Formats: sequence, structure tokens, C-alpha cells
Amino acid sequence: MWARKFLRHWRKLLVGVFVLLVAIQLIPYGRTHANPPVVQEPQWDSPATRELARRACFDCHSNETVWPWYSNIAPLSWIIQRDVEEGRRKLNFSEWNRPQEEGGEITEVIREGEMPPFYYVITHPAAALSEQEKQILIAGLEATLRNTSPATAESKERNGRNVSEAGHEGREVGEGEDDRD
Ligand code: HEC
Repeated sequence: MWARKFLRHWRKLLVGVFVLLVAIQLIPYGRTHANPPVVQEPQWDSPATRELARRACFDCHSNETVWPWYSNIAPLSWIIQRDVEEGRRKLNFSEWNRPQEEGGEITEVIREGEMPPFYYVITHPAAALSEQEKQILIAGLEATLRNTSPATAESKERNGRNVSEAGHEGREVGEGEDDRD
């Protein structure tokens, strides 16, 4: 008697969850899966650096995102869409022509194990970097940033805006360089 009641409740709950999962599929957000054109990549110091970045970062920080099948299924589609939008906004290896908001932090987030995010690595084992690969990627990105630094582009832009506030330019460029260490 008790068991049957319990089961009935569970069935209701399961049906409820199922109906909800079907219903949220109707929400259109997260299914565009746009890959805009690659405008300009950094001047990579070597193909190896690019390959490591492609493996570990490109899905969220480039316009060459590989959208997995489950990126069509809500609520995963929402999370993935948000990650790609936010990721591209902060740092986009395919749009090196524009200033990168967080360019100065690239090597730091790798060193500290913040990027790639742990939940991404679980579903993308190829993105897991060994300690040695991390070092190679960090050194390679540092050299690449010296070739074509988005931070430089940013300070140039700031300097342009701050022409009237003479005296700040030198300091700001110096700070940008510190960030990259
Ligand atoms: C699963 C998607 C994903 C992958 C893969 C990924 N990132 Fe990110 N990254 C994000 C998102 C989302 C943000 C912005 C929001 C945040 O801070 O969590 C971000 C932010 C950043 C930032 C800005 C600093 C910050 O903490 O906000 C840097 C720099 C960065 N990522 C570098 C990298 C590098 C380098 C790699 C590869 C080694 C990488 N990311 C891989 C999603 C990703």
C-alpha cells in the first residue's frame, strides 16, 4: 500500500520532469550556432602553439566552434551558447584585429588552471593539457602576444581617447606590459 503510493508520486514527478524537458526545447535561445568568419588570427609563433590553443580554447574563444550534438538540447544548449558568447567577447583568436578585453590574462588563467573550464575538459578529454603542454602553450602564447599583442591595440586606442589627458599614456603602456607577465 505504502509502496504503491510512493511509486505513484514518483511517476507523477517523472512525468512532470519529462514534460518540462520537452517544453523547454521550444525556447529558441541557444540554437543559432553561428560561426562568423575568421577575420584575423594572431601571428602565431609556431603551428604547435596554435594547435594547443585550438585543442583547449578554440571552442569558446574563436569563430571555429565545434558545436556538439547535445548543444541542440536545452538546457545544455543555453549553457553552451552563453559560454561561447561570453568567451568570444572576452577573447577571440579569430578576431585579433580588434582589442581583446582580457588579452593580458591569457597565460595567467592557463597557469592557474582556470581555463579551459573543468566541466569542458570532462566532456572534451582532448582539451586536457598535460603540465608540459601547459608550459609549451604558455611560452608559445607569450611569444605570440609579443608578435601581435591585442593589449597593444587596446592601449593605442586608450591613448587616442586620452590625448587631452597628457601624461597618462606612458604609464598605461607600461601597465599593459606588466599584465602579460
Ligand atoms: C567551455 C568554454 C571555454 C573554453 C574551452 C575556454 N574558455 Fe576561456 N572563458 C570562457 C568564458 C565563458 C569566459 C568568460 C566568463 C568567465 O570568466 O567565466 C572565459 C574567459 C577567459 C579569459 C578572460 C579572463 C576571465 O577569467 O574572465 C581568458 C584570458 C580566457 N578565458 C582564456 C582561455 C584560454 C587561454 C583557454 C584555453 C587554454 C580557454 N580560455 C578555454 C570559456 C571558455
